Amino acid sequence: MRDKIYQNPYKQIKPFSFSPIVAKVFDDMLNRSIPFYKEVLSLSAGFAKEANYKNPVIYDLGCSTGNFLNVLKKSMGESPFAYTGIDSSEPMIHKAQKKKRKLSPSQKYDFYVSDILDFKYRAANMFIINYVLQFIEKDQRKIFLSNLYQTLKPKGFLILSEKITNTEPFFSNAYSKEYYNFKIKNNYSDIEIKQKDRALKDFLQPLTVEENILLLEESGFTKISVFFKWCNFVSILAVK
Ligand SMILES: C[S@@+](CC[C@H](N)C(=O)[O-])C[C@H]1O[C@@H](n2cnc3c(N)ncnc32)[C@H](O)[C@@H]1O
Repeated sequence: MRDKIYQNPYKQIKPFSFSPIVAKVFDDMLNRSIPFYKEVLSLSAGFAKEANYKNPVIYDLGCSTGNFLNVLKKSMGESPFAYTGIDSSEPMIHKAQKKKRKLSPSQKYDFYVSDILDFKYRAANMFIINYVLQFIEKDQRKIFLSNLYQTLKPKGFLILSEKITNTEPFFSNAYSKEYYNFKIKNNYSDIEIKQKDRALKDFLQPLTVEENILLLEESGFTKISVFFKWCNFVSILAVK
């Protein structure tokens, strides 16, 4: 379903939330708002396959409508894996469960409505946290990532994708303009872009690439690699 949420001019813009209305159009919003969204999912699923773990335990944190599971299933082929998707938005999890029932009715994959900060994780081979940490209070991020690091099995890995900010104004302006152009090319209008930016202001709290890497280092990771970067978006692979 087409995202038209910010098409009409509003007198007052409410802060963004992962509401039922947003969940309905979220797949379209993801594809039109996140540069190389599908490619990042596909690379992430490829890492899971290439790691060659036996029956890996994989957590998808802030899974939204469950797109990663579908890409992962294709990548893993016949290799079995235990997948758990977690999201605090009930309408997102409903959509994810519906998709799962359609695509793999006989397989047991788990979805939970929960805050990822409170969930009790079991020893895992992979955590994927794509475009979610940016919505978590900055002062909670390190303790959360440290907890995930502790929960990872040796040689397990974490994927972190985020919108990022820049302290250098030249980069910041250039990347913001390119991102604006990206959304225009994806048929968002100027008013839609500006109204959504206002709704997200304060709610989405990006860090710089360096700050995200430092957070991972301070959480225990020593092997960290940026595997994708596009202007103000980054994807990082961190191995235990
Ligand atoms: C941009 S979407 C994530 C997209 C998804 N990872 C993907 O690649 O398709 C952000 C998601 O994180 C969820 N979220 C935000 N904060 C959360 C939290 N503290 N606990 C659980 N889910 C959270 C939102 O409900 C939303 O579905």
